[in-house]
Amino acid sequence: MKNYLSKKLDWRTAEVTFTYSEVSLWSSQFGNLMFEHLPISKFKNVLDIGFGAGFPLLEIAQRFGKNSKVYGIDPWTEAVKIARKKAKILGIENVEILESDASNLDFENDFFDLAVCNLGINNFENPEKVMSEVQRTLKPNAKFCTTSNLSGSFEEFYQVYGETLKELGLGHLQSKLEEQKAHRGTIESFTELFDKAGLKITKKVEDKFHWRFADGTSLLNYAFVLIGFLEGWRGIIEPEIEEQVFEKLESNLNKLAESKSELRLTIPMVYFECE
Ligand SMILES: C[S@@+](CC[C@H](N)C(=O)[O-])C[C@H]1O[C@@H](n2cnc3c(N)ncnc32)[C@H](O)[C@@H]1O
Repeated sequence: MKNYLSKKLDWRTAEVTFTYSEVSLWSSQFGNLMFEHLPISKFKNVLDIGFGAGFPLLEIAQRFGKNSKVYGIDPWTEAVKIARKKAKILGIENVEILESDASNLDFENDFFDLAVCNLGINNFENPEKVMSEVQRTLKPNAKFCTTSNLSGSFEEFYQVYGETLKELGLGHLQSKLEEQKAHRGTIESFTELFDKAGLKITKKVEDKFHWRFADGTSLLNYAFVLIGFLEGWRGIIEPEIEEQVFEKLESNLNKLAESKSELRLTIPMVYFECE
């Protein structure tokens, strides 16, 4: 009997329900861009760097099929546990999940037919080392496909943040704000990074999407902001003035939202394919 006819995935069970919230809306924006362009084939050995709770690792393993073996590498212990649990519940057998750091890949040279990375590079401590490991382990002519948000993300937010600092007599902190913005790559910095590793860009697709909120209060209370962004935004100022600055910032964001009928933040993103 066909596996898919005998395999039971009942949406009512707690286990399958656990896997249903598969990927954050944030990651899926980049994931959609990736899956629009990613070469799909029965690649033998595939690598997903920084798969978090299993994305795009588990998606790729299923779409490429059983002839492909998809290796995922990520040092995030709790996320690795979740990815393993999802793979087990969903019966995805062509994955190998490794809790490890991609700046030191335990694979021989010329091993992978494809490597992917959704939203990872801005998060790597040593992106140069990761890229050189990718280059080393990719077969000649194999592709590395990656997405990222770009410097310029949340520009509308940073604009209000800068004006708020000025209003409070803290204009000298503008350089720290610029520094925080600059931790995200640009098209030029990514190009240089790939170049240095000996990877040549063969395709580049730029796009953008918007984060839309009723106002600044809802933005600053958004769980995903607390998980992924607030720490960086707080780091621009000293803890002693946090209350004062965020009070004013929130109020200024709320004013902007009122004047525009919503708070709309732009997130530029890019898909790169390299060889
Ligand atoms: C923004 S998350 C993206 C996760 C996932 N790809 C997604 O789209 O939801 C970045 C991921 O990179 C991982 N990461 C950070 N440094 C890494 C490294 N040196 N090697 C492998 N993964 C790393 C993090 O643990 C995290 O899971």
